[in-house]
Amino acid sequence: MSDKSQKPKTPSPEECESELARLIRALGHPHRVAILRHLHQQKACVCGEIVAVLPLAQSTVSQHLKKLKEAGWISGEIEGPRTCYCINRSALKRFRSLVDASFLSSTEETMSNTTDIRATVREKYGKIVSQSRNGCCGPTCCGGAGDVDAIAVQIGYSPEDISKIPTESNLGLGCGNPLEYANVKTGETVLDLGSGAGLDCFLAAHEVGKSGRVIGVDMTAEMIEKARANAKAGAFANVEFRLGEIEHLPVADTSVDVVISNCVVNLSPDKPQVFREAFRALKPGGRLAVSDLVLTRPISAAMRESVEAYVGCVAGALQKDNYLKAIRDAGFSSVEIANESRYEIGLDSLGDALQKEACESVLSIKVRAVKPV
Ligand SMILES: C[S@@+](CC[C@H](N)C(=O)[O-])C[C@H]1O[C@@H](n2cnc3c(N)ncnc32)[C@H](O)[C@@H]1O
Repeated sequence: MSDKSQKPKTPSPEECESELARLIRALGHPHRVAILRHLHQQKACVCGEIVAVLPLAQSTVSQHLKKLKEAGWISGEIEGPRTCYCINRSALKRFRSLVDASFLSSTEETMSNTTDIRATVREKYGKIVSQSRNGCCGPTCCGGAGDVDAIAVQIGYSPEDISKIPTESNLGLGCGNPLEYANVKTGETVLDLGSGAGLDCFLAAHEVGKSGRVIGVDMTAEMIEKARANAKAGAFANVEFRLGEIEHLPVADTSVDVVISNCVVNLSPDKPQVFREAFRALKPGGRLAVSDLVLTRPISAAMRESVEAYVGCVAGALQKDNYLKAIRDAGFSSVEIANESRYEIGLDSLGDALQKEACESVLSIKVRAVKPV
């Protein structure tokens, strides 16, 4: 029995690269680019006039039209004595999205300016603090607003975990529980990248005990203020919060045993630099345990906008392989995905098909790695 509900298979990054190369090859002559531009400028198909507008011999034009047609850039229909040529606009759209996916989603973001990205992120999380406990990365995101404690249980915390942290430290901003994979021991020093209101820092504080310490770093002043107030309220003497960027960590070289992070690196405009900094801060043999959101497939610029609008926190996310590569390139060994799952919280509330597809392109991963001794 055929399963009509089955989605078409998502092309792999290699298949996308081959497709892009094929489309570029077919455009590999200035006359073909000129023909395509001419067809693009026309509202309707062009019947038999291409030679008239381009200073080329009929045989040359025919040769180029054939190449463009074979590659799917244009279609050509015989109408009586003439052939009518039309640009295939879906090929143009596909080409744009392949270029975006290959060049923009690897290490660069669609927002070109690093400072703009940080300012936008900082402003957003500053506002979230004032609306405290409204849930996730934006006003409407995969996590959505709602019962943040219930969401925390859904993403990997136990009710017992929730009961031992200050209530205001869980703002519903995480996408997993990195401590589940960090194997934190008594007496260790833990560093949390993008500590928010302190949720994971307070849980880590219980694990390291009085002889250990926890440092949370966050670039949003309101978050740091909130986290410090939470530490005071919960009398956590072994936790401190430092204002700073995770790309330039305010911690000494080789000073921490474990680096954790929860749903933050995807927000950074320079993810490889974040992992290099984590590597620098760790002692030899130190561990990295990160919970984050990554993309399962290349997404178009339009899709990125949709993700930005509805998922908030993952507009700048990398594809999974690129994320793991950035960790390895920083020098880490034993890089492994300890767990991965669809990030489906709040998905049902998304109506529009594109938004739903955007959310379905997102994966929550828990990654472990070790700094070699
Ligand atoms: C999605 S929230 C996660 C907060 C916390 N990890 C949690 O699970 O509750 C992201 C946090 O990372 C911080 N952040 C984002 N980009 C950052 C950067 N480049 N440097 C430092 N902090 C950053 C934000 O200010 C925000 O508090």
